[in-house]
Amino acid sequence: MRVSALVLMSGLALAFAQTAVTEDIDNITAAYSEDGRYFTEDDVPTYNIQEDGTIDWLTYSGFRRYHSECHVCHGPEGEGSTYAPALKNSAIDMDYYDFVDVVTNGRKVVRGGGGDSVMPAFGENANVMCYLDDIYVYLKARGTEAVPRGRPRAKEAKSDVIRADENACLG
Ligand code: HEC
Repeated sequence: MRVSALVLMSGLALAFAQTAVTEDIDNITAAYSEDGRYFTEDDVPTYNIQEDGTIDWLTYSGFRRYHSECHVCHGPEGEGSTYAPALKNSAIDMDYYDFVDVVTNGRKVVRGGGGDSVMPAFGENANVMCYLDDIYVYLKARGTEAVPRGRPRAKEAKSDVIRADENACLG
């Protein structure tokens, strides 16, 4: 009885502590890095810009991948077009997992009169799926303007782990 009450109380204290923490964190600030990738406190991928302007590898890679796979519809540098939303805002406003879901499975909004709004599903496209986090962190960096428009200049080297994961993903 004593023990279970204690367990219950510590469980409540933990739940309370987690709620308090969640209110303080955002989905932008890098809290830690692992083999050249950066993550928020919530383990969501994010970008990292050093004081001299050097950007992390994923953000640089995302710049290239975005412009080969997404910009025809979403406009250059995530700015949006008359046809599709500005992803530099979506990457900040949307939950990471929702973002991944829309890109993987697509989305169709029926407007009628031939004006349906269709986001294609990219789940089978390795050139997108193997670089989804790259594209996502690049767009977040655009959304906060941490990375200005134009081709990024100084970048971190690609880590061995990122290279190995990429090769495994592309198969
Ligand atoms: C053929 C055009 C087309 C291409 C290519 C395309 N998209 Fe889209 N995407 C759309 C349209 C149109 C929508 C809006 C769908 C709707 O009305 O809900 C959309 C919506 C999205 C959304 C939801 C945005 C929000 O704020 O709700 C995300 C995320 C997204 N696209 C990511 C991507 C990524 C990443 C790529 C490149 C890998 C990509 N899209 C390529 C047309 C496209």
